[in-house]
Amino acid sequence: MRTVNPADLAPNEFYRYMIGTVGPRPIAFASTVDAHGNINLSPFSFFNIAGYNPPTLIFIPTINRHGHKKHTLLNLEEVGEVVINIVNYAMVEQMSLTSAEFERGINEFEKGGFTAIPSDRVRPPRVAESPASYECLVRQIIPMNQRAADSPGAGHLVICEIVMAHFQEAIFDEKGLIDPHRIDLIGRMGADWYARAQGDAVFEVARPKVGIGVDTIPASIRNSTILSGNDLGKLGSFSTLPTPEEISAYKESGILNDIFDEARYGCQYLPDLLHLRAKKLLADNNVKEAWLTLLAI
Ligand SMILES: Cc1cc2nc3c(=O)[nH]c(=O)nc-3n(C[C@H](O)[C@H](O)[C@H](O)COP(=O)(O)O)c2cc1C
Repeated sequence: MRTVNPADLAPNEFYRYMIGTVGPRPIAFASTVDAHGNINLSPFSFFNIAGYNPPTLIFIPTINRHGHKKHTLLNLEEVGEVVINIVNYAMVEQMSLTSAEFERGINEFEKGGFTAIPSDRVRPPRVAESPASYECLVRQIIPMNQRAADSPGAGHLVICEIVMAHFQEAIFDEKGLIDPHRIDLIGRMGADWYARAQGDAVFEVARPKVGIGVDTIPASIRNSTILSGNDLGKLGSFSTLPTPEEISAYKESGILNDIFDEARYGCQYLPDLLHLRAKKLLADNNVKEAWLTLLAI
């Protein structure tokens, strides 16, 4: 285990640990204007939802390496309105291009080859190519470094209230829900790495009811060398263990006979065989039958 005290490192050295471990981070592709109406477009991965009543987004432009506020922040101090556009895989290279240090007043919609569409409620335009765009009013800008607000890396927390939103029809499934495969989101990781939420990278975890908890799983199961932490999580999310009657009925159904035979005549270790079967059942989210299998001895 590497234990690090941030006070022992330069801020930009500790930053590498943070961005390599806190991720994938969503990307706010922020469109702003200055007091003269000049448009700016830049990505920010210090970004998230900060509540939905009212619908609120936050993102954090940091002071750049020269000790200057980024153009996005300067614009927001002049015009407190922003469109936060969501970035998907189809846009990643063009989005990245806009993050270069262009002069103030340069329109990164043009540099990145994006299409600007006028917004309904705010002055900055939105990005036509984005699967979703949020028109926001800036409610607060909070300097994060109380001691040295202008030192490189010091953040300014921008708190934004969504006042209008736009979603491409193509991201919805037949039931009208946003389909993660269709929206094809990306996330920012450490160094130059990104993640794409597509294929096997997208998976579901059933929302649990109050379960028995991993701590009450019998030690012989909890300490299994076959069951993983994720397997134990599924077992611990189950709310009530099968009754002795259910376990007897399951055994008497004959479904485990092959396993019992294999243990008896093939000199296999019975708990391991049962744990292997339970593991497969858990992979299919058949938690009840996994419990019946595990409790069969
Ligand atoms: C994917 C991505 C995420 C970024 N996230 C941030 C961030 O959260 N905060 C920040 O200050 N800069 C971030 N940057 C760097 C800014 O986009 C970059 O400094 C840009 O030039 C700022 O533009 P501006 O000066 O026009 O506002 C990010 C860059 C990329 C490519």
